Amino acid sequence: MVNEKLLKQAREIVKNMSLEEKIGQLVQYGKLKERQWDLVKKGQIGSFLNVSGAKNINELQREILNSDCKIPLIIGDDVIHGYKTIFPIPLALSCSFDLELIEETCAISSEEASSEGINMIFAPMIDIARDPRWGRVAEGAGEDPYLGSEIAKARVRGYQRNNWNDRPFVTACAKHYIAYGAAEGGRDYNGADVSERTIREVYLPPFKAAIEEGCGSIMCSFNDLNGEPLSGNEYMLRKVLRDELNFKGVVVSDWESVEELIDHGFAEDKKEAAYKGIKAGVDIDMNSGTYEENLYNLVKEGLVDEALIDEAAERIIALKLALNLFNISEIDEKLSEKVIRNKKYIDVALEAARKSIVLLKNDGILPLSKNIKSIALIGPLVDDKVNPLGCWACKGDPKNVVTVLEGIKSKLSEDVVINYSKGCEILEEIDGGIEEAKKVAEDSEVVVMVLGEAGNMSGENNNRAYLDIPKPQKRLLEEILKVNKRVVLVLMNGRPLTLEWEDKNLPAIVEAWHLGEQSGNAIADILFGDFNPSGKLTITFPRCVGQIPIYYNHKNTGRPTFKKYLDVEETPLYPFGYGLSYTKFEYFDLELSKEEIKLGEKIIAKAKIKNVGDREGEEIVQFYIRDISASITRPVKELKGFKKISLKPGEVKEVEFEIGEKELALLDKDYNFVVEPGTFKICIGPNSVEGLEKELKVVK
Ligand code: GLC
Repeated sequence: MVNEKLLKQAREIVKNMSLEEKIGQLVQYGKLKERQWDLVKKGQIGSFLNVSGAKNINELQREILNSDCKIPLIIGDDVIHGYKTIFPIPLALSCSFDLELIEETCAISSEEASSEGINMIFAPMIDIARDPRWGRVAEGAGEDPYLGSEIAKARVRGYQRNNWNDRPFVTACAKHYIAYGAAEGGRDYNGADVSERTIREVYLPPFKAAIEEGCGSIMCSFNDLNGEPLSGNEYMLRKVLRDELNFKGVVVSDWESVEELIDHGFAEDKKEAAYKGIKAGVDIDMNSGTYEENLYNLVKEGLVDEALIDEAAERIIALKLALNLFNISEIDEKLSEKVIRNKKYIDVALEAARKSIVLLKNDGILPLSKNIKSIALIGPLVDDKVNPLGCWACKGDPKNVVTVLEGIKSKLSEDVVINYSKGCEILEEIDGGIEEAKKVAEDSEVVVMVLGEAGNMSGENNNRAYLDIPKPQKRLLEEILKVNKRVVLVLMNGRPLTLEWEDKNLPAIVEAWHLGEQSGNAIADILFGDFNPSGKLTITFPRCVGQIPIYYNHKNTGRPTFKKYLDVEETPLYPFGYGLSYTKFEYFDLELSKEEIKLGEKIIAKAKIKNVGDREGEEIVQFYIRDISASITRPVKELKGFKKISLKPGEVKEVEFEIGEKELALLDKDYNFVVEPGTFKICIGPNSVEGLEKELKVVK
């Protein structure tokens, strides 16, 4: 989005600005008090967040244009999975593996947000996460760098796709740079001690992808990375981000993270924090006031070269030029009435919710017949309008949520007896709740229990040390099973949970995440077979917390066959890429166009997939590679491609994947991408633990 031409234009503008005005561009506040209004009147502030409504934003933009320094404002907002139309949380939607759909939800989000004056979206969150205790796994795309990169690109494309008067509605802001998901112990804000190699192989690829897709801004993260907090980390922000990845856009700090360099023990005071932030290359200081209070003196005292202020101001103004804010900074205050939550958007929300659902277990009880005589709906999340919106629900309104109870009622005829009993709260028992629920359950043909987490049990700093279904709900489940074995468990959660007992004792488990406003309709469609589940996990479900971190693309070690633990199986409960359907798919005829190639050659791998069941379904075909032996040890499997196909009963389709340098390369000792001669395993299959395999030899 920001390019040399715009930077040149910006340079001309900066030349005519005072030092105070230039510093003002680097200042962002998430509040609007007297001090901020004063800065607006003086034209010494560049951006805001936590300001909403076209009317309020128009007033701010008008005020800034009345000042001496007529530079319009960037207005940011956390539009993580929808603005007013709320889609599934990003972790849920990543399980659709549907890049076009993901892009569409982001385009809708940016259109709604920009219709109310927002022009920076603090998304996509592209932190790879391998620790489900960490609350923010809910906001990302799971554990895999390849999928995470593809989804990062789709989200940036979506957010920045819309154009009016030849400008994108908003700039995306890829976050949180970097290795924020490696927070030790899954404790948010905790330090990340990650090798350079792991940074470059696991955490950097989605940011590289977002930058290549033209992402206009990046947010640096709260965490300390190997002793250097990101808001003062010159190596990661200048050497890697600017020099290596050639990022020309704007770096915005996370909330007050520049000032937090003091708490990190990385700066003595706010003055040193400001010094370290600007030296490292943080362009915008979000809400801490550290830049506003100190940069002027730092320059006047000769401690900071004014050129550093100029380059940051130029990038910020170049971004504003890219957004065409100098020509259009006011919003038609009636626009949002035409744009927000129209029928098409709600339909997309339903499609997204359906495709995010992952069927984890089914002994045949699902899909349920619509002709059942009676059904019991039990659990604290059966008729809940708040929690399906999940964390970071932006301007989502609970009244727009379709609950499971509503979704099922609208699907079934009046003759079906629907018995609902809450049974317990999410975290507490209800006096007599279990007894009442048991009565309801024993009189019903089948029981659907909707259990899990509140929306605020994941997301920022909502970490959990235990990943079980909360105790009161688990007890309710155990008691209900005593009176009726036909129990379908529907989970609403923002992270993997530990479900070994449930997997052993229940006939069916549906992973429904926090699906946004169309939750109830989507879940009802799956339960009664109006939509065949197609989602596949993008993050591993451990058997217990003790297995964490556990992820599919792990190293083989020198003793792969040795036991991992004395007291638990070594495999996860549900692996990356796993998800069931109401039909069955068979994979056969894996072929390589050549089984031996020279360095630099490309080949095609293809396989056939047949729907051997009795209903149409979608299958996410996955393509993995293993480099058997190299100068650097490689994971036992790495996802390198996927395709979603739809097959009618009996239908066969052939799927092919190209294999070339991009798929075969590794980062060598000097972090150069190279292909080394040797043997590779090529795998095409339904998930990360099953599939067809062939060997490929690469020779000099
Ligand atoms: C928060 C989050 C970040 C968000 C920012 C602005 O603390 O870490 O994801 O965009 O502050 O709300």
